Amino acid sequence: MTNFVVEELCQNHTPFYYYDLNLLRSTLKAIKKSVTNRQYKVHYAVKANSNPIILKEISAAGFGADCVSGGEINAALYAGFPSDGIVYAGVGKSDEEIELGLNKNIGCFNVESVEELEIINQIAAKCGRVAKVALRVNPDIDAHTHEYITTGLAENKFGIALESLDHVIETATALENIALTGLHFHIGSQITILEPFKLLCEKINALTQKYSSKGIFFKTINVGGGLGIDYDDPDKNPIPDFKSYFEVFADNLTLRPDQELHFELGRSVVAQCGSLITKVLYVKKGLTKQFVIVDAGFTDLIRPALYGAHHVIQNLTSDGPIETYDVVGPICESSDCFGKNERLPLTRRGDLLALRSAGAYGEVMASQYNCRQLPGTMFSAD
Ligand code: LLP
Repeated sequence: MTNFVVEELCQNHTPFYYYDLNLLRSTLKAIKKSVTNRQYKVHYAVKANSNPIILKEISAAGFGADCVSGGEINAALYAGFPSDGIVYAGVGKSDEEIELGLNKNIGCFNVESVEELEIINQIAAKCGRVAKVALRVNPDIDAHTHEYITTGLAENKFGIALESLDHVIETATALENIALTGLHFHIGSQITILEPFKLLCEKINALTQKYSSKGIFFKTINVGGGLGIDYDDPDKNPIPDFKSYFEVFADNLTLRPDQELHFELGRSVVAQCGSLITKVLYVKKGLTKQFVIVDAGFTDLIRPALYGAHHVIQNLTSDGPIETYDVVGPICESSDCFGKNERLPLTRRGDLLALRSAGAYGEVMASQYNCRQLPGTMFSAD
């Protein structure tokens, strides 16, 4: 659980992301403890948080990296992730990005279409390399999460449809500069029930069985990321239940002894260790409501505006009687709102608020709309 030291926070220019590195380290330890099978390899999804200090902690703990752009490949390498521990996904990889991945000799390209496969083959031939490739399959599973972050349904733009897989595998096997090494899946994000992962295992078993009967074996199976976190009570559940998550795969997925199972966890690794710290500028009394206007806006944390997400809001500097407020940012758009009818201790100008569980998809999604500055950072560790 994160303990905020207000005297230290006060010395910083707000708004800023506060990262509790002790909690990050405990989370990484919990993952490692839950991964008992040596065939399992966890890649951290860099898109969740690519802050260099966070990346260094994660690479030092021995994880691989899941990247979605050339920029992320460079950031991962710079932070010390080994190149063969990098997997590279994305529905629209540019030629330059493919070339970078080949020249850096990354572990695997997760490929989303036959069109992409042919381009990777051409570029690999030009560079005199063979690209290791996993095919991203769209397993058509409902992850029961927000429609913007569900990815495994047939209607989504991601992956290769099950019906086309035979053809794509044939093409991949025939291409000279492609080494087909695996299958890749990702069904969505912030998945809080384990049933969809069980369904995924069943689909994968059926597929690997079908292909092994044709003499096609995959060295790696990559099940993507998606494990959700407790946004409602970050103090009660600062570390997700990794044990139960990995057990679903241990109990339901059939692996051959020489196969590797890859995971791409993002949010569950970093979300709870980060909070956005913001200062109250004004407490404005409207006709029917009181508004707490803070100096952070959706440029600093866009999840509430974009997905209707709710982050617990905590007043770090008041223990007065409880009042009801709408907590809003300074940007002139109605969606710039962090919480409606929030129950907070009596709040005044100058108070510091923490928006909790903001370590994933927070700082990385910040923008400079309205010519605003990007949020700062502060790290705490023993
Ligand atoms: N692998 C692939 C192929 C992905 O597309 C993603 C996330 C991950 C792994 C990591 O998933 P995670 O373990 O973090 O759930 N901005 C949104 C989340 C977008 C997730 C996109 N893909 C949000 O703030 O909720």
